[in-house]
Amino acid sequence: MQNRVQDERLLDRRVFLKSGIIFTGAALAGAGLLHGAETEKKSEDKEAEVGPPEDLMREHGVLKRVLLIYGEALRRLEAKEDFPPEALADSAGIIRRFVEDYHEKLEEDFLFPRFEKANRLVDLVKVLREQHQAGRRVTDVTMRFANMQSLKNDSERARLVNSMRQFIRMYNPHEAREDTVLFPAFRKIVSPHEFDSLGEDFEKKEDELFGEDGFEKVVDKVAGIEKRFAQDLRIARRLFPTTARPPLSANRGRRKKWSLNAAIAPRGGA
Ligand SMILES: [Fe+2]
Ligand SMILES: [Fe+2]
Repeated sequence: MQNRVQDERLLDRRVFLKSGIIFTGAALAGAGLLHGAETEKKSEDKEAEVGPPEDLMREHGVLKRVLLIYGEALRRLEAKEDFPPEALADSAGIIRRFVEDYHEKLEEDFLFPRFEKANRLVDLVKVLREQHQAGRRVTDVTMRFANMQSLKNDSERARLVNSMRQFIRMYNPHEAREDTVLFPAFRKIVSPHEFDSLGEDFEKKEDELFGEDGFEKVVDKVAGIEKRFAQDLRIARRLFPTTARPPLSANRGRRKKWSLNAAIAPRGGA
């Protein structure tokens, strides 16, 4: 147990140092960018043509929404406010299945080797690869401790907090650097024909793993998790039963300030 905690701390330091070297200044993009950004795209209005970078960028949107959920879970843990641990576990599950096993796999199989072959952005690609691996280890920890029992245990709760912090700190700059540097450069290193056919390959892979309209289904799942977080503020406390809290009516003003909540549950929205 001691060794594992030490490993996690080492990983934390290593990942942070790497991010600091490569991504200086890119870490905190701010969490208040989601005003009214609820996606309601359904199959009938799905765009026929989505190029590989756009495809990957909208997948980053899913990742960003989970980062916001992690951030909200951390805020509530600090404030000793309730949240649904099973919804947090579902969030980590989306990171595992959609981000790590699908999105990152696309980057590793189709993008990174092409940059390496073209000898372009190889230092960046090396760090992005390493961060994928580190992220998977961090997600193992998040998945393991995102449950009510662990939240009530001081040491396990601390490890959960640590894993979410590591993930947020690493993936904000990771996705920002891919969106602004890697993806824009991709078109320059592949032929127009290859570019188009990769878009189709991505779409095929998505359908294969997640079924028809796979992306939209995953977005719906994230929206459901956000709603569960919002609703849980109204449920009687469970995580911190011995902590004195003001009555819900006294909390109302503070709840309104939560930007994610406001963004995901607009007045009159679903
Ligand atoms: Fe990546
Ligand atoms: Fe990515």
